[in-house]
Amino acid sequence: MSVTESSNTSVNIDFNQIKNLTLGEAKAVDRLIVDELSSDVMLINQMSHYIIASGGKRLRPMLLLLAGKALGEVNDNHLILAAVIEFIHTATLLHDDVVDESELRRGKDSANAVWGNAASVLVGDYLYSSAFEMMVRTNNMQVMEILSKTTTAIAEGEVLQLLNCNNPDTTEQKYLEVIARKTAILFSAATRLAAVISDADEATQEALATYGQELGVAFQLIDDALDYKASTEDLGKNLGDDLAEGKPTLPLIYAMQKGSVEQAAVITDAIKQGSRDAFAEIYEIVKQTNAIEYTERCADAAAQNAIDALSVLPDSDYKAALELLARFAVQRDH
Ligand code: IPE
Ligand code: IPE
Ligand code: MG
Ligand code: MG
Repeated sequence: MSVTESSNTSVNIDFNQIKNLTLGEAKAVDRLIVDELSSDVMLINQMSHYIIASGGKRLRPMLLLLAGKALGEVNDNHLILAAVIEFIHTATLLHDDVVDESELRRGKDSANAVWGNAASVLVGDYLYSSAFEMMVRTNNMQVMEILSKTTTAIAEGEVLQLLNCNNPDTTEQKYLEVIARKTAILFSAATRLAAVISDADEATQEALATYGQELGVAFQLIDDALDYKASTEDLGKNLGDDLAEGKPTLPLIYAMQKGSVEQAAVITDAIKQGSRDAFAEIYEIVKQTNAIEYTERCADAAAQNAIDALSVLPDSDYKAALELLARFAVQRDH
């Protein structure tokens, strides 16, 4: 794998090369996903295929498969759980776009924009339930415990976030609590499950869970930075959705701390109102106060923690790929 160090933490990442390491397994996971989606209720078929076929990076299944391969052979239960994790992820996206009133997802009109909120919530529920039906097939109580705790924590994270919305006094710590639950725990479940299915010892299970958790934190920090600085085309989502929702994400929290009294007031008002009207002005404040750089530094630190946690694994191309994906979580533009 070619890795060119250009600075301490910035590396050239060939995402396709990493993908190639699990290509066969990823195809099998995709087949499983498509098979499991079929329902005799037409709207479920239509909507679930629409969102699944619109792509997505399939990062969580990839992490599960790479972690499995870093520990030895990948078996059918790894494949099932990779599909389960992607189902849960997709269910959260359907619900999240309703809550966030987002109209663009994966470069297409979001499901709620096409079919409305009620259908999105119900099909999200269907995907959750299908995930649990599939998970039972592994016949493994530890797997069921991990996944049920994970989905509970995701729901808690989303509700905590709702409580922080329109509240400009939200602290960095409260923000971090939200992202640990709403996003990072699913990454953590993916990599922990790989270790459980591979019969790895307790220390290895914990190390892989830490890797996923820290990578997930980095991933969401960058998602929140990208909501201000990405291009809509690369991201496949509209910029400014967080501001429109009055979400106090880290770029805003930091910009309020570092900006002038007037600048802080502009951000405070926008968070209270939940409006993207001041997006251009706030983007300038976020840039001027180096809030994006700060968010990226936090993400970088989390990615480094993720990489450090991998020290328990024997060296292999798969371990190297996991390290690179932690860097990818920070360097990505989509
Ligand atoms: C989006 O996740 C939701 C977040 C946790 C930020 P991804 O960026 O992995 O979404 P897809 O699956 O690639 O569309
Ligand atoms: C992640 O948060 C959502 C979930 C974990 C479901 P965001 O609301 O930032 O995700 P995007 O930006 O809509 O993908
Ligand atoms: Mg959202
Ligand atoms: Mg976002």
